[in-house]
Amino acid sequence: MFVSLLFVWISTVISTATAVEYETHYCDLNTTSSHINNTSYYSNLVQVLNSLASDNIILNDNQFSNMSSGSIPPDIAYGLYLCRADVLQNDCRNCLLKAREDIDNSCPSSKAAVLWRDNCMLRYANYSMVSVMNSDTYRAACNKFDISDQNSDQNRFWEDAMNFMSRLAKSALTDQKKMFANDEVSYNHTKKIYGYVQCTPDLSVSACDNCLQVSIGRLAQYCHGKQGARVLAASCNVRFESYKFIQFQAAGLTSISC
Ligand SMILES: *[C@@H]1O[C@H](CO)[C@@H](O)[C@H](O)[C@H]1NC(C)=O
Ligand SMILES: *[C@@H]1O[C@H](CO)[C@@H](O)[C@H](O)[C@H]1NC(C)=O
Ligand SMILES: *[C@@H]1O[C@H](CO)[C@@H](O)[C@H](O)[C@H]1NC(C)=O
Ligand SMILES: *[C@@H]1O[C@H](CO)[C@@H](O)[C@H](O)[C@H]1NC(C)=O
Ligand SMILES: *[C@@H]1O[C@H](CO)[C@@H](O)[C@H](O)[C@H]1NC(C)=O
Ligand SMILES: *[C@@H]1O[C@H](CO)[C@@H](O)[C@H](O)[C@H]1NC(C)=O
Repeated sequence: MFVSLLFVWISTVISTATAVEYETHYCDLNTTSSHINNTSYYSNLVQVLNSLASDNIILNDNQFSNMSSGSIPPDIAYGLYLCRADVLQNDCRNCLLKAREDIDNSCPSSKAAVLWRDNCMLRYANYSMVSVMNSDTYRAACNKFDISDQNSDQNRFWEDAMNFMSRLAKSALTDQKKMFANDEVSYNHTKKIYGYVQCTPDLSVSACDNCLQVSIGRLAQYCHGKQGARVLAASCNVRFESYKFIQFQAAGLTSISC
């Protein structure tokens, strides 16, 4: 009895530990000394965040929404969110709530910011962001393990991974309502590469294409040789890993022989 309870306790601790969500952010337009709390921009921002990320919000089917609050130009606040396509409504909402909490910790005096987590992105600014492609606001994160200690293996793996990601990007552009794609391919007989790309669905096809190309290029620039990598930009995100990280089944678009 005690042993099995202990076992349950240990596995709970372990699964909680591994379930820690990746979080990163980009703080922009920092205000100088004082906090933005007392300004009318801030009260508009609170309105926007209340309608994008609070306990009782109704989420959109397409995992994307934008809002604004205020009508007098310097004080209008704008916000939007994007959840990963496979994420269920509850998980999307919980992710947005956590991202909202991150604002106070990570960007406490910024008039604009992007908060990324595994399952969602939350973004706000004092300017309208809808339909404006932004790939320059981004973060890159690498899987910490090399795919191999051989340079030649690393090069081959990354060549395959980059081809795979480019094909995923093309397939994301075929359905303008979706603007995402996921798939997996076999690599070196026994291994697999799992990939995901997504744009905010307010973008045009060519703007999405542009954001994905730039971001896929940055994967190699920052993470060449690693087992996986992601680039999270304000208008799109791209990621591949050597393990399954999204719930959707493979689309079966492509297969790379290696
Ligand atoms: C600003 O507002 C946030 C949330 O409403 C609060 O947590 C924080 O303490 C406030 N900061 C200041 C300096 O008043
Ligand atoms: C501004 O915030 C400070 C403390 O954060 C508070 O004492 C003061 O009353 C606030 N001013 C206004 C106009 O809300
Ligand atoms: C947003 O805030 C920045 C910094 O305060 C300011 O320079 C810029 O003009 C503002 N943009 C708009 C559209 O109000
Ligand atoms: C803005 O503020 C954040 C957090 O407060 C800080 O990490 C970042 O470096 C600042 N950016 C600039 C340009 O000062
Ligand atoms: C493929 O797998 C074999 C056997 O595990 C290994 O020796 C080889 O280095 C791998 N090749 C690449 C390109 O990773
Ligand atoms: C942005 O929000 C406005 C107001 O809610 C809405 O009319 C518009 O369709 C939204 N745009 C997109 C691309 O979702």
